[in-house]
Amino acid sequence: MEVVIAPVDALAGLAADAIETLVRARPEAVLGLATGSSPLAVYDELVRRHTEQGLSFARARAFTLDEYVGLAADHPQRYRNVIARELTDRIDLDPARVAGPDGSAADLPAACAAYEQAISAAGGIDLQILGIGTDGHIAFNEPGSSLASRTRVKTLTMQTRQDNARFFDDDPSAVPNHCVTQGIGTILAASHLVLLATGRAKAEAVHQLVEGPVSAMWPATALQLHPHVSVLVDDAAAGRLQLADHFRQTWAAKPAWQGL
Ligand code: F6R
Repeated sequence: MEVVIAPVDALAGLAADAIETLVRARPEAVLGLATGSSPLAVYDELVRRHTEQGLSFARARAFTLDEYVGLAADHPQRYRNVIARELTDRIDLDPARVAGPDGSAADLPAACAAYEQAISAAGGIDLQILGIGTDGHIAFNEPGSSLASRTRVKTLTMQTRQDNARFFDDDPSAVPNHCVTQGIGTILAASHLVLLATGRAKAEAVHQLVEGPVSAMWPATALQLHPHVSVLVDDAAAGRLQLADHFRQTWAAKPAWQGL
């Protein structure tokens, strides 16, 4: 696990570099996209590179992490709509090549199984962007989630509903109770995981992710079992890391050509 502590713009640039390198080497790359605030600067940077430098995603594919259950197809907070607005409609990625778990399917378990199948059929995810919840969730795998889980229906914690109320007129009760989410086992199957976290509210979750014991109480700790994880954090989110100085020294000494 590599931890990079840097200002937000630099973090976004690093994640965008990793995606650009991948897409230029393998135009048909399979990208894993997260919603929420954390990846927004990365998506803006990818849009800039697409618009100003011609970085193309025309042959790429994308899978999103999770989706609320029960939101109307045109609801602005439906993650399918969020990711279109924030990234995929702003680049040359055909909407038909962007998939997400279906939170409005009549048969949710069947839709979850079909989603797993679709990821496998695409050859698996090459690079997965992740955020982290203040309670340590990744995707919507809340505390207590199986570390081997695959895409399935989950119940959101009240903490997450409160955290996400800012997207629902500050009303936690308007945030759906249920979601469909890639499992931790699904996420661990991606080749490269790039997690972004900023702000003091994420400091404890980042500390647990990097330095805590692997535990379903802090689902993100499962990433310690993955061979290629890049944890990109600002000073505030790194505020509880015991190894912060070591991570700063390590990054400062790393040759730039190596990338993430
Ligand atoms: C969203 C997702 C969630 C978020 C997490 C952090 O697709 O998978 O795990 O990454 O809730 O959200 P932000 O980035 O808004 O703090």
